[in-house]
Amino acid sequence: MIDLSALRDNPTLAGSRVNLVPLSAAHADDFFESTRDDEIRRLTGTHRRPDYDEVCDWCATRADQFDRLDLAIIEEPGGRFVGELALTEVDADNESAAYRIALSAIEFTGQGLGKEATRLVLDYAFNHIRLHRVWLSVYAFNMRAIAVYRSCGFSVEGRMRDALLWDGRRHDALVMAVLESDFRRAAAD
Ligand SMILES: CC(C)(COP(=O)(O)OP(=O)(O)OC[C@H]1O[C@@H](n2cnc3c(N)ncnc32)[C@H](O)[C@@H]1OP(=O)(O)O)[C@@H](O)C(=O)NCCC(=O)NCCS
Repeated sequence: MIDLSALRDNPTLAGSRVNLVPLSAAHADDFFESTRDDEIRRLTGTHRRPDYDEVCDWCATRADQFDRLDLAIIEEPGGRFVGELALTEVDADNESAAYRIALSAIEFTGQGLGKEATRLVLDYAFNHIRLHRVWLSVYAFNMRAIAVYRSCGFSVEGRMRDALLWDGRRHDALVMAVLESDFRRAAAD
């Protein structure tokens, strides 16, 4: 059985180059900036541009949502906001949840921050929330993200054809998932 209190706890997870802290109103300005970054929007397939008030409200209310976990990714040292991630669609009956992550600008990518953040939150998902399965979808062109997910134990389970229409072109999305045993194996490698 999963531990729902671990979702309500709004944990801070400490790594060596990033800390994960509860997403809050303090992150709204940085979060808003990331919603204006065209390359991040393409990689995450985000068509909508939320307005500033929406983003403020979103950030301010995340800690009160007990059926999901939204964390800001803070670079250490320095304390700079470099992105956010979330466990969503927590399904207690089946001990599963969905995962999403987005660093907030391309300049933050390719430095190992996303991999460390993903390992930290998966460790919490499997060892504290006691989930069995974490799944996600990723566009087939997003090779960097796919490489990170594979290194954390995710494997491809399926393909959603033409899931994204972006600038007049259609792109497939892959469904990937990691089971607790996959994560432990990947962590031991
Ligand atoms: C996806 C994301 C979280 C990855 O985090 P990151 O910090 O950039 O990635 P890392 O630096 O930790 O690791 C990148 C890995 O991808 C590999 N990689 C990069 N480009 C690649 C490519 N074109 N093909 C294959 N592998 C690639 C790197 O070699 C590295 O693997 P290694 O550590 O084994 O060398 C981050 O880039 C991000 O948030 N991007 C913008 C939004 C996004 O794409 N979100 C995911 C939506 S599903």
